[in-house]
Amino acid sequence: MLTLGIETSCDETGVSVTSGRLIYSNIVSSSVHLHKKYGGVVPEIASRFHVEYILGALTKALKSARKEIKDIRLIAATNGPGLVGALLTGISLAKSLSYSLSVPLIGVNHVLAHLYSAFLSEEKAPKYPFVGLVVSGGHTALFYCSDGYKQKLLGQTQDDAAGEAYDKVAKILKLGYPGGPVIEKSAQLSKNRNKIKFPKAYLGKDSLDFSFSGIKTAVLYYVRGMPALAPGAPLSPFGIRGTGRARRQEINDICYSFQETVLDSLVDKAFLAAELYKVRRIVVGGGVAANSRLREKFENAAKFSGGIKAYFPKKEYCMDNAAMIGVLGEELYKRGYRSDLYLSAEPNLEVANA
Ligand code: KG4
Ligand code: ZN
Repeated sequence: MLTLGIETSCDETGVSVTSGRLIYSNIVSSSVHLHKKYGGVVPEIASRFHVEYILGALTKALKSARKEIKDIRLIAATNGPGLVGALLTGISLAKSLSYSLSVPLIGVNHVLAHLYSAFLSEEKAPKYPFVGLVVSGGHTALFYCSDGYKQKLLGQTQDDAAGEAYDKVAKILKLGYPGGPVIEKSAQLSKNRNKIKFPKAYLGKDSLDFSFSGIKTAVLYYVRGMPALAPGAPLSPFGIRGTGRARRQEINDICYSFQETVLDSLVDKAFLAAELYKVRRIVVGGGVAANSRLREKFENAAKFSGGIKAYFPKKEYCMDNAAMIGVLGEELYKRGYRSDLYLSAEPNLEVANA
């Protein structure tokens, strides 16, 4: 079933052409360069970018798939969660096409699409049950996933998402936006890996919730040379020392310790969930899943777990893209889910427990 996927929840304008899990095209136009100087996404700028670029992305997606708009049999569009002005562009295009082509429409939850993105372009359907970890700029949540695209929320962040913590720490360290890739690179260059220990928030034994605002504050206090408030936080009476190369090295060490702390809590909680729910598969998705150190940590933990296996999307499918919306939209459509022309943008759309 040839499906047109549309994604405009944040700062990526995505249009794809897919059929089942086969991806004919997956066009992403990003406005990330326009947000860099603000240290985060500016909703107004993101919305205007979608309006300008979405028809270009549609044209490119059809052309590179070698398909015509009349071949499309289903329109799938992200209807939340996300920035309302951004979502509206994609939904408006989806509704117009659905109306004018007389083809069905389905609204897709962006977080769910990240959750299943490890199975994009794979021939085999996901094997159930599994624990799903969505770790992006807007969300950090664990799900129990059972047969037929059904899932139950097991835990989520109580404050910042993990990607958001990367972005905020990059802003504190003046490393630019988005924070993930630049902090990952900086951490790899650290030469003094045991110097700083930031506090880990586990929120109690067997808790599957996350918290990342404490570490962000600990980094801020460390940089300012103040004792952090969190118990066990490092005390740096001088803040970032030195100039030039020395200063750079200090930043690399901070990035390393910050990253280890965040990633360890993701890995620990995902494996705890697998253990508590007696599941042998963990599937990770979302922008932070592109992180090589996270993949390495999952692999290492899997080796010592006595049979748990971790699955990651290809890196190109970690970040926001329309292929994940199209593929999941078609699966849900085939399972009887439908949307109508009253489909609305839902900035706080939640994943329904099913
Ligand atoms: O999934 P995504 O494209 O958008 C949301 O749905 O939020 O994720 C974007 C987030 C940003 O916070 C970005 O800093 C983070 O993913 N990210 C990374 C990496 N690449 C992107 N975080 C850690 N390491 C990376 N390599
Ligand atoms: Zn996303």
